[in-house]
Amino acid sequence: MDITYKPQVSASAPGKVIIFGEHFVVYNSEAIIAAINRRCFGRAEFTGNLGVWIASGVDTKSNPYTIEHAAVRGEPSNKKLLEPLSTFCRHIIREYALDVGLKIYIKSELPIGVGLGSSAASCVMLSGILRSIIRLNHGEEISSTDRKWIYENALYGEQMIHNKSSGVDCYVSTYGGLVHFVGFTETTSIKSQPLPFFLINTRRSHETSELVSHVRRFSRNSSKRFEELTSDATAICSNGVKEMANGSLEEIGRLMTENHKLLREIGVSTKEIEKIIGICSRCGSLGAKITGAGGGGSVLVLARPETISAINGALKGLDLCLEAIKIEDRGLTLD
Ligand code: MEV
Repeated sequence: MDITYKPQVSASAPGKVIIFGEHFVVYNSEAIIAAINRRCFGRAEFTGNLGVWIASGVDTKSNPYTIEHAAVRGEPSNKKLLEPLSTFCRHIIREYALDVGLKIYIKSELPIGVGLGSSAASCVMLSGILRSIIRLNHGEEISSTDRKWIYENALYGEQMIHNKSSGVDCYVSTYGGLVHFVGFTETTSIKSQPLPFFLINTRRSHETSELVSHVRRFSRNSSKRFEELTSDATAICSNGVKEMANGSLEEIGRLMTENHKLLREIGVSTKEIEKIIGICSRCGSLGAKITGAGGGGSVLVLARPETISAINGALKGLDLCLEAIKIEDRGLTLD
């Protein structure tokens, strides 16, 4: 394909939190997921040499667990994340016979491997850049056909990193907002009341693929119990949808804590997470649970403003704190 390119193309895509249903969603259960106000940004420049290079800036102070950090220190997460991302881009460039060389700079507000959808947001952002190059529509509104293409290709890229994935992270990063998933195919946007959500980043990164494999073993070894837990998770999601629209915050918090018990039983919690959740509950949070794959990662907390200082005070001993997050309506954007 011989085309005239703009000097550069930029895109950004949000991370996510899973409010209800992680892991069980891999088994066709329901889930409720929100895009959040933390994004992965990318800028592609055209170079004279054919191929793709992915680089990242340095911003270790504000966010010590980002791609940039890993890239600078040459840590394994750099190789693990950046290499599949380059391979994914090369795959699309080959498939569409694009005669280009690209240098792509990534800057992310999403820590890696802590359940906030860093890999999905990177894949969605890159998929957006590549679609924009293929279609030559930089800066225009993204059509629904293009958004679907971006989602499907990002999912392909994410599966290069995590092997098996339900696709919910890429979906919400592409489309934004708060989404109810039923099975893999039925998705509905939820209009929710304002929800006072907070994150606690344990700074213990996990491998999503290992945790998904662990749950697969559990589902095989304890199939009857796993079926019961999956149906409990589905019921929690169905109730969660109703409560999030206009129900009580207390009930949403209670459902989150119930959901966490299921995650604990399938073995994706840790001693530290149990300690954190115990602290939140004793200090008056409405509910708390793992968000994402678990095994470290992040804890999602629902808490009223009057309880925040008590929770933060008690978390100090673990050198942790609450970080307010908002649900983000914007999915992928092209600039
Ligand atoms: C990871 O963010 C969520 C999991 O449910 C895996 C997936 O849905 O692909 C653990």
